[in-house]
Amino acid sequence: MAKEEIIKFNDFSFKYSSSDANILENINLSIKSNEITVLAGPTGCGKSTLLRSIVGLIPNMYDGEYSGEVIVDGIKIKDAEIKEIAKRVGFVFQNPENQIFMFSVERDIAFGLENLGIEQEIIKERIKKMMETLSITHLAEKAPHELSDGQKQRTALAGVLAMEPKILILDEPTSLLDPKTASEFMELMNKLCKEKGISIIIVEHRLDLVLKYADRLIILSNGKIISNDKPENVFNYKKPIIPELGVPFSTKIYRELAKAHVEFSKPVTCADDMINEVRKKS
Ligand SMILES: Nc1ncnc2c1ncn2[C@@H]1O[C@H](COP(=O)(O)OP(=O)(O)OP(=O)(O)O)[C@@H](O)[C@H]1O
Ligand SMILES: [Mg+2]
Repeated sequence: MAKEEIIKFNDFSFKYSSSDANILENINLSIKSNEITVLAGPTGCGKSTLLRSIVGLIPNMYDGEYSGEVIVDGIKIKDAEIKEIAKRVGFVFQNPENQIFMFSVERDIAFGLENLGIEQEIIKERIKKMMETLSITHLAEKAPHELSDGQKQRTALAGVLAMEPKILILDEPTSLLDPKTASEFMELMNKLCKEKGISIIIVEHRLDLVLKYADRLIILSNGKIISNDKPENVFNYKKPIIPELGVPFSTKIYRELAKAHVEFSKPVTCADDMINEVRKKS
């Protein structure tokens, strides 16, 4: 699939009304379509703020000082109507409690579609398909308070995916999932990106989990972008470790082995890479 520039930040800065200084400072960033982009960085560095600026919650829901521009799929976020943004971008919050609020899982998935004014027949079809894709069909009539955290996260995601967005924004989507479910979730994201061409931007601390799928890794520190590269370039042993960022376990081993002059064909950023590289050697 051809890749194009789907999100662009031009000299963008933002300060919440109640904060003393800019939370995001002079961001210049270009994100490509049909890729999985991982956004990482220390707590409080501005990751969620950056995502809010993509989905239009900033400036629509959060007051503050806004300068520069954010362009998403050709539209200027500052001047766009929420409905125009919602057609293009799906957003799953850091905490799904804030996102599911209807009487049942089925009603919840329908909510966004009804707001877009989609026909009832199509809504029914999409709900059915999404519940199957996310393995939650058996939960259709359950109320949000009857769901586990992982089931809530899946329901929130089903509601967003049913709207068929071109761009999917996920703020720590696996934080409430067990390791196996989290890894299944990432497999699903990878499938959506590679087969349906959805562009995915994901904030995640668990790099061990996501780097296997990431095309790009952006690191934010104190409101500024300090690195924007392919994960294997960020973790290449020839480069210093970025102190703001945890190092994946497999990368630690790869870097230790490099000290002992054990060279691999490429830098290792996840367990699968490590297994492949070791197999090549044995
Ligand atoms: N609504 C708000 N009003 C004022 N300040 C805010 C608001 N939301 C966030 N902030 C501040 O902006 C900074 C960045 O917050 P943000 O939530 O973007 O960080 P984050 O990188 O997502 O952190 P975490 O990894 O903990 O989720 C923090 O200092 C935070 O206190
Ligand atoms: Mg956050």
